[in-house]
Amino acid sequence: MAEKNINKGVAGRAQNLSNSRAQGVYETIDIKPATAVIGGIVSGVDMTQPIPDAQVQDLNHALANHNVLFFRDQPELTPEQQIAFARNFGDLHIHPAGPQDLNPEIFVIHTHKDSKINNGGGWHTDVSCDEKPPLGTMLQIHKTPEAGGDTLFANMYAAFDALSDTMKDLLRTCTAMHESEHIYRGRYSDRGVDDTGKSFPSAEHPVVRTHPVSGRECLYVNRAFTTKLVDFEQAESDALLKFLFTHLEQPQFQVRFQWEENSIAFWDNRCTQHLALWDYWPEERKGNRVTINGERPFHQIN
Ligand code: SIN
Repeated sequence: MAEKNINKGVAGRAQNLSNSRAQGVYETIDIKPATAVIGGIVSGVDMTQPIPDAQVQDLNHALANHNVLFFRDQPELTPEQQIAFARNFGDLHIHPAGPQDLNPEIFVIHTHKDSKINNGGGWHTDVSCDEKPPLGTMLQIHKTPEAGGDTLFANMYAAFDALSDTMKDLLRTCTAMHESEHIYRGRYSDRGVDDTGKSFPSAEHPVVRTHPVSGRECLYVNRAFTTKLVDFEQAESDALLKFLFTHLEQPQFQVRFQWEENSIAFWDNRCTQHLALWDYWPEERKGNRVTINGERPFHQIN
């Protein structure tokens, strides 16, 4: 169960990864890279059962190496099975605005002919407006349209690495405001959510974040939630953010995942962004998402 280590920088700097796993040798799973820069297709996991610690470790290291993991060989998980599997990676996050149709820990992703929006239709990192944004998210799509409904994921280490040293040095000094009022207010009213009197989170985060597992720096601003660079004039902030959003959304940093029935994607929100395409209206697409709590973002030069 060996593979080429596609994120070579991880192996050198990772403090928490055992050597063989950091180099892409796993005891309990097989992985095929989905592209040269991001994504791994995993087999050998049965999510309907408790999994051994060695497999949790393998998956943690695979996530550090590939940033988003894809599983194509699972049955439709019950909410309880998906929650139990996700808990191997941390406590679960409760969405600050979303409908809680099934269970507070499950976010139902559902688009159909009467939908007004699709969830995650612009480039974003999940809930980066939280003071402690989610570590990762695990989505299983149960019902797919006949064609379309792909999700794109982008590697924020690669986006940072591609910048000039001068730009990197400037960004290392910057902090950004992440807000959610403009996104969440009224967003889920057609799914029965009444947000009268509710306030939505906002937080400041470093523009360049150090990943707590890999020790690598990555860009941490996104078009959905990041509204301003702190201590910049508005025009300066607008120009710099426009450049960064355009830069990090380039296809060379991406993988495009085509869902099949019951496929699962497990992404690391700390070093990726994603976008869910809505090119299949009026067809239906439906699944369950669980999200794992994360830590406060920090920046530290190693
Ligand atoms: C999301 O942003 O969580 C939705 C992703 C998707 O539906 O593919």
